[in-house]
Amino acid sequence: MRTLVTGAAGFIGSTLVDRLLAEGHQVVGVDNFSTGNPANLDAAKSRGAYRGRFSLMKVDVQAPELTDIVAGANPDVVFHLAAHVDLRASVSNPEFDARTNILGTINVCEASRRAGVKRVVYAASGGSRYGVPARLPVDESCPVGPLSPYAVAKLAGEFYLGAYAEMYGMAPICLGLANVYGPRQSPTGEAGVIAVFGSALLTGRPATVYGDGTSTRDYVYVGDVVDAFVRAAEAPVAVVGTYNIGTGIQTTVADVYRMIARALGESSEPRHATVRTGELQAIALDTSRSERDLGWRPAVKLYEGIHRTVSWLRTVVEPPSNYEGACRAS
Ligand SMILES: NC(=O)c1ccc[n+]([C@@H]2O[C@H](COP(=O)([O-])OP(=O)(O)OC[C@H]3O[C@@H](n4cnc5c(N)ncnc54)[C@H](O)[C@@H]3O)[C@@H](O)[C@H]2O)c1
Repeated sequence: MRTLVTGAAGFIGSTLVDRLLAEGHQVVGVDNFSTGNPANLDAAKSRGAYRGRFSLMKVDVQAPELTDIVAGANPDVVFHLAAHVDLRASVSNPEFDARTNILGTINVCEASRRAGVKRVVYAASGGSRYGVPARLPVDESCPVGPLSPYAVAKLAGEFYLGAYAEMYGMAPICLGLANVYGPRQSPTGEAGVIAVFGSALLTGRPATVYGDGTSTRDYVYVGDVVDAFVRAAEAPVAVVGTYNIGTGIQTTVADVYRMIARALGESSEPRHATVRTGELQAIALDTSRSERDLGWRPAVKLYEGIHRTVSWLRTVVEPPSNYEGACRAS
C-alpha cells in the first residue's frame, strides 16, 4: 500500500509508521512537529530496509501545500492523526484548537478528494464524543454529546468526513479511540496519565490525581490501536463510519496509579487536586462493531501494557540522583 500519515512524529502516528514500514508499505509522513518528536521516527529513517519507502515532510495540515504533497504521494490510504490533542488547552484557547482540528481536517479532506483518495482513516476521540452516556460501555449508536472544544472539533472532523463520503464517494473510517497509552507517549504532556504518573514516580516528583481518584477511563494499548488503523485501511471499501477502539473495561485513576507504582516498586501516594473543566467522571467503549467489521479486538492487558510503558520510560526519563536509595527505602 502507498500511505500518507499526518501526525507521523507523534505518539500514535510514529508507532503506526513503524508498523506500516515493517509490513512493507510505503509511507509519506507529514508533521509540523508542534508536539511530535523527531526521535520517534529514528527507526523509520535509519533502517536500511525502509530506504526509499519512507519520506517525511515538515508541513502544517492547514497549509495549501498539503494538496500537492498528497497528490505527489498518490496514496491508497490517508491516515489522519495530526491534531492539537490537549483537551484543557482547548478550553483556554478554543480557536487555536479549532484551526488545527477542524480547518486542518477540512484541508486533509480536500487534499485527499483532489488526489482521488477513497480511504481516509481518522483518529477520532471515542473518549469524548459521547459526553456523559446513559450506559457504559457505550456503543456507536449512542447519541453524541461533546463537552469540550477539543471534543467538538474532533467530532466535527468525523462529520466532515461523513459529508465527503456522501458528496464524493470517499470511504472514511473514523476510529473513536479510548485512552491510548504506551511507549512514546509524552511524559511531559497532560493527556497520557500513565506516562505522566510513571515519569513522576521515576523522577521522585509528586503525581497529581484530579478529583478523588474514582473517575474511570478505558485504557487501550498503542500497539492494539495501530492494529486497528491497519485493519481499517485494509477493510473492504463498503466498510465506513465510526468504530470504537477501546477495551470496554473501566479502570479508576487511583487503580492505574497503584499499578504503575507497583510496576516501579514504589509506594508513594499521589496528591489530589480539584477536578478540571471538561473532564468526564466515567467512560468505557463497547467495541463489538469493530470486532464484527474490522476483525479487531484488543490483545494487550493493562498490567502488561503498563509494564511495557514503564520499561520504555526508564530509558527516557532521568531518575533523581537518590533514586536507588528511594527504592530501597520504600
Ligand atoms: N492519545 C490518546 O489517548 C488519543 C485518544 C483519542 C484520540 N486521539 C487522537 O489520536 C491522534 C494522535 O494523538 P497522539 O496521542 O499521538 O498525540 P501527539 O501529540 O503525540 O501526536 C499528534 C501529532 O500531530 C502533530 N501536529 C499537531 N498539529 C499539527 C498541524 N497543525 N500540522 C501537522 N502536524 C500537526 C504533532 O506535532 C504530533 O506529532 C490525534 O488526532 C488525537 O486527537 C488520541
